[in-house]
Amino acid sequence: MEPTADKPGKPSANAGTERFSFIGVTTSKSAIMRVFPAWAEHLGLGDVVVHGYDLPLHASPERYREVVEVLRSSPLELGGLVTTHKIDLFTACRDMFDYVDPYAELCGEVSCLSKRDGLFWAHAKDPISSGRALDEFVEAGYWGSSGAEALLFGAGGSNLAISLHLMTGRPPEDRPQRIVVVNRSPGRLESMRSVHQRLTTDVKVEYVHNADPRENDELLRQLPAGSLVVNGTGMGKDSPGSPITDDAIFPERALVWELNYRGELDFLHQAERQQKARGLAVEDGWRYFIHGWACVVEEVFDVAMTPQVVRDLSRLALVVRSG
Ligand SMILES: NC(=O)c1ccc[n+]([C@@H]2O[C@H](COP(=O)([O-])OP(=O)(O)OC[C@H]3O[C@@H](n4cnc5c(N)ncnc54)[C@H](OP(=O)(O)O)[C@@H]3O)[C@@H](O)[C@H]2O)c1
Repeated sequence: MEPTADKPGKPSANAGTERFSFIGVTTSKSAIMRVFPAWAEHLGLGDVVVHGYDLPLHASPERYREVVEVLRSSPLELGGLVTTHKIDLFTACRDMFDYVDPYAELCGEVSCLSKRDGLFWAHAKDPISSGRALDEFVEAGYWGSSGAEALLFGAGGSNLAISLHLMTGRPPEDRPQRIVVVNRSPGRLESMRSVHQRLTTDVKVEYVHNADPRENDELLRQLPAGSLVVNGTGMGKDSPGSPITDDAIFPERALVWELNYRGELDFLHQAERQQKARGLAVEDGWRYFIHGWACVVEEVFDVAMTPQVVRDLSRLALVVRSG
């Protein structure tokens, strides 16, 4: 069950072996290439390899259709996960799917391709996977009893998914009082607002166009105790720095979530420095990574992701991560 990576459209290096595909930019660098074989063995998925399709950022619609056609038409292709290209691929290939789930329709993106009864399915799993990760450190009933709010730095795909979970994932009495979303460019805020306008929810959202970390410090200062603060900007991994300054002060008992688990992680370290004094709960993106892949494996292979199965997969992934 060795990982493989091909250029789009090339036939499999292991003809006859089933494939779980990963459409990204530099797929061979992802930990999942080493983690998946261990998961496949543990789950008894049979003779299946993880297979990467590397496409450049904003590839042409023809290239997306070429790759998706391979996945759709080959009986050896079982489905897979889409990263980075979620919106572009969905836009280029919308008519190629037999079923599109409500989150994919709502967000205009696809992160999971799968097959059922000869039909080709598209799902957007991020609202579910980010919700599962969040629910691990935000206990049921938390929002109703705490009066806490949420401050999301970045209005990209991940924070959109997290906002959907916060606004609709729990019963109305267990949702934050208010969500503040900050983004560097206005376009992402407008896209997010247009998705939110299609929801039935009573959660109030404020959209802040800002890239000045001192202004973000001030937004942080205004939050009630216990609020959730998420770094979904990619700063500290995809780009240097943090959306806040070293002078920023987190609210007491804040829940602080850095979506990445590797890189400089400046924001995570800023929170860790205040963790004890201010009673913060600080999380990185490792569990989000696990749930993201587990959700897709669940859909593609029709495996029930019970808490025990997720614990097993997490343990196996940790062995690979630290190996
Ligand atoms: N652990 C996991 O498994 C996992 C899963 C998903 C994502 N992630 C990580 O989470 C991060 C976000 O992912 P994504 O898919 O949401 O990325 P994305 O779509 O690129 O969104 C990032 C957003 O942050 C904004 N931004 C950047 N710097 C900012 C600043 N200083 N202040 C305010 N906004 C700023 C960008 O604004 P512009 O519109 O101006 O570009 C963009 O809208 C990435 O680093 C990704 O690697 C981790």
